[in-house]
Amino acid sequence: MLQLALDYFSLPPAIAMAVKVAPFVDVIEIGTPLCKAAGIDAVRAIREVCPDNLILADLKTPDVGDLEAKMAFDAGADFMTVIGGAALATVELAVKTAKEMGKEMLMELTGVRDIIARAQEWKQVGVERMVYHRGWDEQTFDRQWEAEDKVVIRQLIDMGFKVTVTGGITVDLLPFFQDLPVSIIIAGRAIHQAPDPAASANQFRSTIAQLWSGPQTAAYNHLGTSPNEDMAELAAKAIRWSVSEMGLLLTVDGRDCPGCDSPQRFCPGTISTIRCPDGINVNDLIQHIAQAFGQSNAFGRLSDDAFYLDPAQLADFSPRRVIDLLLATGHALRQFGHPVDINAGINVANQILG
Ligand code: 5RP
Repeated sequence: MLQLALDYFSLPPAIAMAVKVAPFVDVIEIGTPLCKAAGIDAVRAIREVCPDNLILADLKTPDVGDLEAKMAFDAGADFMTVIGGAALATVELAVKTAKEMGKEMLMELTGVRDIIARAQEWKQVGVERMVYHRGWDEQTFDRQWEAEDKVVIRQLIDMGFKVTVTGGITVDLLPFFQDLPVSIIIAGRAIHQAPDPAASANQFRSTIAQLWSGPQTAAYNHLGTSPNEDMAELAAKAIRWSVSEMGLLLTVDGRDCPGCDSPQRFCPGTISTIRCPDGINVNDLIQHIAQAFGQSNAFGRLSDDAFYLDPAQLADFSPRRVIDLLLATGHALRQFGHPVDINAGINVANQILG
């Protein structure tokens, strides 16, 4: 999705910009400066003029997580943010409120140094989304987007988080992120300071569609030697990304795979090993998948807390069967009460499989 950040210091120009650009973006963000300048009424005002967009209140909440989350959601926001330096208790309370109200909170990672270590804790209290941010002030000191940023973003995605990227993103920078299944891209100044903001938003939109739709052939050209091998590896890639988007954890970090230098961490081999969520018996899960999909070696138990999906074992290999396998897995997990985002997973798999 594309998100427009409204970092304004008063409400009227923000409202005018929102009205102008709303049809071209998915999410409209009430930026932190605007939240502070105009208060939570800014959220209410933008919600009123943009009824069809998702709204994010970028509160970057440092404390009182439940109250601030409630304020944002009561005013019409769908998303709110908590700053990464906040105590775990604040994060937990904001997540709890968001879930109770059917909304979402995002962890804002500005200034967090030990992102992966903290992410483990956040995962445990139910956080699902992150905002990976190159802050304005960092940009003032010439901080660039680097390959290391992508390594961390990829790790977060592999851990099952949906990641938003932001911070001085322009249309020209979009290809830098192309090999990552990021969930949301935020653009602020590149849109609202453009001579024609609507045209700029539209250019973001079409470039995103172009870069992230269909099989990204350039990225996996080095894989496989025969068409079948290529297809099975492509399917494995679809499965890895899909289960990550669903919110599941892979047990194997592709970066540790010998000889694998792919920026997508697409290691040789087609087996994806997935952690079975706590409280679900692996054998029961496998049985449920088999009920929906039929008996097959394309899935199975790996250990007491892990199972695998392997498209190379499909007797009747086709992209449709890969999607069926993912659907069967997602629905089986849902039947056990695990909150998987099946649509997000299937969307990314469809994109990869073309
Ligand atoms: C500042 C923010 C901004 O909203 C974010 O950086 C996007 O703005 P821009 O694209 O202009 O950098 O959160 O803290």
